[in-house]
Amino acid sequence: MIETLRSVLRFRRLELDPVARRLARAASVADLRAIARHRLPRGVFDYIDGAAEDERTLAANSAAFAAVTFRPRVLRDVGEVDPSTTLLGRPLPLPLVLAPTGFTRIADPDGELAVARAAARAGVPYTLSTLSTRSIEEVAAASAGPKWFQVYVWRDRGLVKDMIGRAASTGYEALVLTVDTAVLGRRERDVRRGFSLPPKIGLGTLVDGAAHPGWTWRFLRSEPIRFANVQESAGVGDGTTAVTLSDYVNTQFDPGLSWRDVEWMRSEWHGPLVIKGIQTVDDARLAAEAGVEAIALSNHGGRQLDSAPAPLDLVAPVADAVGDRLEIICDGGVRRGSDIVKAVALGARACMAGRAYLYGLGAAGERGVDHVLGLLDADVRRTMALVGVSGVAELGRELVDPRS
Ligand SMILES: Cc1cc2nc3c(=O)[nH]c(=O)nc-3n(C[C@H](O)[C@H](O)[C@H](O)COP(=O)(O)O)c2cc1C
Repeated sequence: MIETLRSVLRFRRLELDPVARRLARAASVADLRAIARHRLPRGVFDYIDGAAEDERTLAANSAAFAAVTFRPRVLRDVGEVDPSTTLLGRPLPLPLVLAPTGFTRIADPDGELAVARAAARAGVPYTLSTLSTRSIEEVAAASAGPKWFQVYVWRDRGLVKDMIGRAASTGYEALVLTVDTAVLGRRERDVRRGFSLPPKIGLGTLVDGAAHPGWTWRFLRSEPIRFANVQESAGVGDGTTAVTLSDYVNTQFDPGLSWRDVEWMRSEWHGPLVIKGIQTVDDARLAAEAGVEAIALSNHGGRQLDSAPAPLDLVAPVADAVGDRLEIICDGGVRRGSDIVKAVALGARACMAGRAYLYGLGAAGERGVDHVLGLLDADVRRTMALVGVSGVAELGRELVDPRS
């Protein structure tokens, strides 16, 4: 009996590092989300996790991935799997780009710097948001990896021109113009909690903060968070006064943005241009006519128009219409490497992911982002092997069964 017991008893080595202990239990992005939910104040978690109105589009983005099944091939020698590809003429180790997210320091004080450093280690591009809490220059100094800059078009075009110039002179490789934010979507979790940026300290926040002492301690010890790019450029919305995100966006952003502005942007920016927020085949055609290098099929992770279509469902029709004229990025709902493989098989060049890395950041800071990128990379390789391909060029529609 003792012999049998000895043969089956295995104790895990006692891990003294609390972050390593936490990450050892996180087998998936969903696990990291659960840890982030536990560690972050509710208002902060809901700002990241939430979406517009009934959150139907948020659910639809993931449901679209779940609805696609594989048609795996076997006996195809997958001893060497290589998930690398190219995007905008550059090599990419994995068909993945980190999406821009505003106010990233709310998840962890290292915020954008942590995410940019983790992206650089993985070799994937990091997209810095206009609404970032670290400046264009600070992120450029922290990461020598590939970086893209996302623009929201302010009413004051001088401000936009200034930001584009700063991104060009600090080595950002591509400009991402987000076009699905004419006005801000109604994120009802934020409305219910009275969420403002930067967070104001009311009684509710104090109680929430006390229940999450780790986050509160780090937040209070770090320098105040602010809209770093905008302050550097014009001194507006400098984050010294608390405003709701919708007030801020609705007063600063230009709802008059049109295709003419894309032409203007072309004259200001001489590198590759990506339009993010395309949601129909017709607009994908207009983007191709405008001569942009890539589009991100995106509904802003369900945070803008509720009942917008899921990006994955647009990939094949858009690839059929304009796939020979521009590159397609599928953005929204990516939680696993198998999601990336599905999007690429349907005709996307790469995926963008937003919440996936924010959950990692909220769960375990910079190491949490490394963990997410490691999980996605391993997932992509394993999925490719299991569907029977050794390189992304072999990923085609015959390997997936989209819904009818
Ligand atoms: C907290 C948060 C902040 C975001 N901020 C921006 C932003 O500043 N600019 C932008 O173009 N998109 C922004 N997005 C949208 C993301 O770039 C991306 O489209 C979305 O997260 C994709 O869906 P996913 O979270 O399911 O990956 C944000 C998303 C989240 C979750």
